[in-house]
Amino acid sequence: MAYKTLTRAALVAGLAVGAAFSATAADEPKTMMGADAAMLSNTCAGCHGTNGNSMGPAAPSIAGLSPTYFEETMVGFASGDIPSTIMTRIAKGYTEDEIKAMAKFYAGQSFVKAKQSFDANLASKGAKLHDKYCEKCHADGGQSAEDDAGVLAGQWTPYVNWTLADYKAGDREATKKMKKKLSELLEREGSDGVIALLNFYASQQK
Ligand code: HEC
Ligand code: HEC
Repeated sequence: MAYKTLTRAALVAGLAVGAAFSATAADEPKTMMGADAAMLSNTCAGCHGTNGNSMGPAAPSIAGLSPTYFEETMVGFASGDIPSTIMTRIAKGYTEDEIKAMAKFYAGQSFVKAKQSFDANLASKGAKLHDKYCEKCHADGGQSAEDDAGVLAGQWTPYVNWTLADYKAGDREATKKMKKKLSELLEREGSDGVIALLNFYASQQK
């Protein structure tokens, strides 16, 4: 799969336009006060697309995320608890109220599933693994945002891949129960299991 040939740094280096926006956000938080949520989110559009649906694999789509997950993630980026290439710098530039306003704005947008290549056999293996290990907290095959656990179905594969690598390495702390399920999956299926899951999430395009 294509994502294997791209390093995380190389992908993110391609986000130069967005990075210019982010510098503004971090440097001028005061001037953003009172700006409405749609205006605040203009700053994010260079990487996350207009209305939160990213146009390419370098940044995840953030439309339709639950406000709780959105806020926790932004706070996690700002504190450094959630590892990131770029978002720590960006998240630090916003007040709690601004994050809340953006969380509400993005929750009101519809998540558009990414069109990406996948292997159908691996995807059907991944569907079974998802049901067994992940469905309980990532309902509807990973489509539902209501579990406050992000959106996996139709999310850009490189992002899901690296995020899982961060959990596996312990760089991002998963809840106890997810940690247990993820280690069971890794013990029994190894990295082939992860690849099957990634193909399953990529296969959901409608
Ligand atoms: C320069 C590109 C860039 C800009 C600008 C940017 N982001 Fe991000 N965002 C990323 C990348 C890349 C990631 C993946 C984490 C990382 O490596 O930093 C990410 C991850 C996220 C996530 C986590 C998604 C998930 O499913 O967990 C959220 C939420 C988010 N960004 C919100 C925002 C908001 C809100 C803004 C505007 C205030 C913004 N981002 C601006 C590149 C960007
Ligand atoms: C017991 C509940 C639970 C189970 C089981 C679970 N997760 Fe999660 N997952 C969560 C929660 C809660 C979050 C929210 C963030 C956090 O806690 O780190 C999350 C976040 C994630 C994220 C980050 C989403 C994003 O947008 O960045 C990924 C990727 C993920 N889980 C994959 C999986 C996979 C793959 C499985 C199955 C092997 C799994 N999870 C099983 C609860 C669970």
